[in-house]
Amino acid sequence: MNKKSDLIDLNDYPVEWWEELLALGHKIITDPKAYAHACDGKIMGTLFYEPSTRTQMSFQTAMLRLGGSLIGFDNPATSSVAKGENIKDTTKIVSGYADILVMRHPTAGSVKAAALTADCPVINAGDGGHLHPTQTLTDLLTLKEEKGTLSGLTIGFCGDLKNGRTVHSLIKAMSCFKANKFVLISTKELALPVYIKDVLSASGLEYEECADLEKAIGKLDVLYMTRIQQERFASREEYEAQKGCYVLDKKKMSIAKDDLIVLHPLPRVDEIEIAVDDDKRAMYFKQAEYGMYIRMALILTVLEGKTKIDLVKGRAHKHAICSNPACITHKEQYLPHYFTGKGTTLICEYCDERTLVE
Ligand code: NCD
Repeated sequence: MNKKSDLIDLNDYPVEWWEELLALGHKIITDPKAYAHACDGKIMGTLFYEPSTRTQMSFQTAMLRLGGSLIGFDNPATSSVAKGENIKDTTKIVSGYADILVMRHPTAGSVKAAALTADCPVINAGDGGHLHPTQTLTDLLTLKEEKGTLSGLTIGFCGDLKNGRTVHSLIKAMSCFKANKFVLISTKELALPVYIKDVLSASGLEYEECADLEKAIGKLDVLYMTRIQQERFASREEYEAQKGCYVLDKKKMSIAKDDLIVLHPLPRVDEIEIAVDDDKRAMYFKQAEYGMYIRMALILTVLEGKTKIDLVKGRAHKHAICSNPACITHKEQYLPHYFTGKGTTLICEYCDERTLVE
């Protein structure tokens, strides 16, 4: 398999690579015009199998501001996907037309599956409830610019920690920096998946779980609010039971630190009252703007292709089947079943879930 500069999981790259990207993002913020022709003649393909506003448009704007051009779809129903074309064929073809692909898909591991056979670098713009590395780069740039550091922060994550892919990616990233503390605020039904808790435990950093936002808010430097991910619930009833479980309002903001910043990947549904928008600590709109600059930095870095990675770290197991029913390996039958780990516990290389084998 050819090594490429795919971005599927931020943790595939060393922290120094992220830091260089953040530094480039900062340079672009201070002088965006200097990069206006950096991608002249380059084409980006955006394949959005799932709805998106910020991620898609900030990627598109980023490429246009670098002088490049765009192709792609934002509704698979208008492409050959509607005729039953598999991920491999669609992405293989478009990767021959474009220099870089950005893909969002409702299934965990799908973007990695595409990257395995694509002929150009592929960027994960969200794969089901799994990961969202470019939102994390957006969040890291926001923290760096607004807090001045990525270490020593007490960060509260609130809402749908089970299905929120932005939460998963950001926790994985922030667990690589010193002295961060995590407060996981959710109902028990929406608690963080075990594979992300494993990452936290392995980092040795402190974390606590708590169901009450009001109790936790006073100790936070950063509050990362998330929406309850309606589309990822098995039934309407299960969603209704969780809907509206956390609402950040002015009363809760009044007991928070003066230098707290409130982040949210957006879209917001009802978890932050509109009245909070006027609070100087509400950083979510600015955060979305940072997303465009960091994506400009990412496009430049990926096209430059200095750092290339191996997407497969383990090996294909002919008979092992991933235990996660939401994993792409259950939908795209042709995929090799790659796992890391040995003995009786294997870890799926597409969705990161554990599978026990005999
Ligand atoms: C998030 C996503 O798509 O995961 N939005 C985004 O990319 N900014 C969050 C969400 O949909 O709730």
